Amino acid sequence: MSIIEQAAKRLEELRRSGVDLTARQSSPEVEVAPRAAETAIPQLMRRVGDAATAVIGTSAPNAVRPAGGKRVEPTTGRRSQQVHIDFARLSAGGFVTPDAPRSQLADEFRVIKRPLLTNVQGKSAAPVARANLIMVTSSLPGEGKTFVAINLALSMAMELDNTVLLVDADVSRPSMLERLGLPPSKGLLDVLTDSALDLSDVLLRTNVERLSLLPAGTAHARATELLASDAMNTLVDELATRYPDRILIFDAPPLLPSTESRVLATHMGQVMLVVEAERTPQASVTQALATIESCPVVLTVLNKVPHSRLGAYYGYYGQYGY
Ligand SMILES: Nc1ncnc2c1ncn2[C@@H]1O[C@H](COP(=O)(O)OP(=O)(O)O)[C@@H](O)[C@H]1O
Ligand SMILES: [Mg+2]
Repeated sequence: MSIIEQAAKRLEELRRSGVDLTARQSSPEVEVAPRAAETAIPQLMRRVGDAATAVIGTSAPNAVRPAGGKRVEPTTGRRSQQVHIDFARLSAGGFVTPDAPRSQLADEFRVIKRPLLTNVQGKSAAPVARANLIMVTSSLPGEGKTFVAINLALSMAMELDNTVLLVDADVSRPSMLERLGLPPSKGLLDVLTDSALDLSDVLLRTNVERLSLLPAGTAHARATELLASDAMNTLVDELATRYPDRILIFDAPPLLPSTESRVLATHMGQVMLVVEAERTPQASVTQALATIESCPVVLTVLNKVPHSRLGAYYGYYGQYGY
């Protein structure tokens, strides 16, 4: 099945399940970041693999606001800390928020999460092992992995049935906490280097009821080595067995500059490859896809599509009668 047929089929499935696909046309205009390099988008879409491709428009730029999130209580025993995410700051940063669920971005993430959730719920034709382990990666840095991982985690946690753990696994360039307006905190690297620490000591519960966070942790000179270590493999296995009912979303390093993400990918049930529209060279996307060939499910998402071009995408689907 061609990528367009798959996209059209998925849109039809969404339409049948009651998702309002016309909502994005009536959503407010958002600012478009100018892009120097121009690549023909349809050409890129044909090249991003056999998996279905979803599209994310350029979201509102980050507003400069003081950090509003805070720690609410100190660690007591082995109970995980609670942190408070400031929804107004989150919204100003261009993220989906639990208190404003209807927006173009929220609709885009509804489309993106649906096939992932179908696999998690075991409703796909061929069951996917460890479908609840989802890695968000890209070919190169800066394509929007953290943006997509956070929005996906929020979007999924906002649905009643899903409990989500968002893991900052981009340990040499961590940005999850800062992006959520939260102060630095211990995390993955600390658990990997300190055997006295338990996962529950570093997990953060949040004011989004079904969302917890596992930060990257204290900066470490051998961070990338640690991520590809046996200890990390064991930790991912532990996460998978300890939290079988949770959806684990890993904000991972990019695939091409180094190899640790490829190792991580071998433990995942599903991989989401973020592609920056009109910027990432096709050769990089093809090369990145080749590095994760053995992963059972790879979905691609075209990110930062200038608002002026979104219509072209939906029109593109429109040619097929949707
Ligand atoms: N869809 C989008 N709309 C607007 N800005 C975006 C979008 N996706 C990412 N960005 C911005 O692009 C920059 C890089 O994104 P980021 O998620 O940090 O990339 P990565 O994690 O892949 O390095 C950030 O400033 C982020 O806010
Ligand atoms: Mg990042």
